[in-house]
Amino acid sequence: MLSGKRLLLIIGGGIAAYKVLELIRRLRDRGVDVRCVLTEAGAQFVTPLAVAALSENKVYQALFSLTDESEMGHIRLSREADVVLVAPATANLMAKMAAGIADDLATTALLATDKPVLIAPSMNLFMWQHAATQANLATLKARGITVIGPAAGNLACGEVGSGRLVDVPDLISALEEAFLANTPLPSLVGKRAIVTSGPTHEPIDPVRYIANRSSGKQGHAIAGALAAAGMRVTLISGPTQEPTPAGVKLQAVESAQQMLNAVEAALPADLFIGAAAVADWRMASAVDQKLKKGDGGPPALHLTENPDILKTVAHHAKRPALVVGFAAETENLLEHATAKRLRKGCDWILANDVSPSTGTFGGDYTSLSLVTAAGIAPWPHATKAEAARRLTHAIATYFSTLRDA
Ligand code: CTP
Repeated sequence: MLSGKRLLLIIGGGIAAYKVLELIRRLRDRGVDVRCVLTEAGAQFVTPLAVAALSENKVYQALFSLTDESEMGHIRLSREADVVLVAPATANLMAKMAAGIADDLATTALLATDKPVLIAPSMNLFMWQHAATQANLATLKARGITVIGPAAGNLACGEVGSGRLVDVPDLISALEEAFLANTPLPSLVGKRAIVTSGPTHEPIDPVRYIANRSSGKQGHAIAGALAAAGMRVTLISGPTQEPTPAGVKLQAVESAQQMLNAVEAALPADLFIGAAAVADWRMASAVDQKLKKGDGGPPALHLTENPDILKTVAHHAKRPALVVGFAAETENLLEHATAKRLRKGCDWILANDVSPSTGTFGGDYTSLSLVTAAGIAPWPHATKAEAARRLTHAIATYFSTLRDA
């Protein structure tokens, strides 16, 4: 995903600059071309030699360097990147950016760039909270600059609070998102998708039901991302609070059986994504009257298994070219997901750790791994909306290779 991308990294003068060395190393491992501008203050914390060795590139420091300017002018430096990251972004750098001051190579490149800019602030708590910094922050955000962090915790100055540079994995996920947003999507226009989402409700009697904690956030985000990429999307959803995404045809259902019927009626399609948390069981026979408390103690609920929608679609006469399921697991994630892909007969499985500590179920964030016949690709921790865009990219790439084959 990151291989071949070009990053201009501007290293400001903060104690957290040491973390940036680790960032450079991780990005190089992933094939990112990293060009660094080291500010004068930044060079007090990390050496140009370390930055050059890790980035495997020349380090740029001076605005009026004759050699640097003849090899790579500051305008080209700022334009040849796909994304620009300032880390650590000090209060001083943020102030200069907000005011449009260009008095060194870093600030000049920032003023000259036409590429997405991300900043990862790091400073003392009071400097961060100062009205001047907060006003600069608001100005930068209003101009479309992405702000990563800062994180809270022990600060190098001995105080505790907000002001820490976020950790390297968080910087990497923010960069991945920025690179992704900047990569043109192969066309999905005209293709049809069916997406299931949300929980199902299985009636126990006319007033009670069996349900689960699925919010529908992931399925709805996927339906929205596919529609935004030009697909005709039918979203078949159990009961959720989620708004229907723009451009998506919603079909609301309650039970697993209703969901299956709606999915079969919506076929044929090019793509099926089973993001719903379908209840595994329903009552073996319908109970028409409300169950009453009685002398016999609590009633035994006789359950029977629900149809497996994903498996049915994967073996259907009208099977879509690409069938994608989720594996929500609390242990042995990748083994279970790999086995589930084969058992269900789907092409891809998105393995999802839903242990309560992750907060994935019902939350806004998720950590997915894409399991295909080719292997397992772990995706970074991200919002469900980002994960949906990443999936849309993978799907678009898949269909474009099918077309080219
Ligand atoms: N799924 C489905 N119909 C069902 C159960 C699950 O379509 N009756 C789909 C889900 O939408 C998801 C995938 O199957 O894409 C896996 O769901 P999961 O609940 O993780 O798996 P189960 O089949 O319930 O397997 P297990 O109970 O062994 O975890």
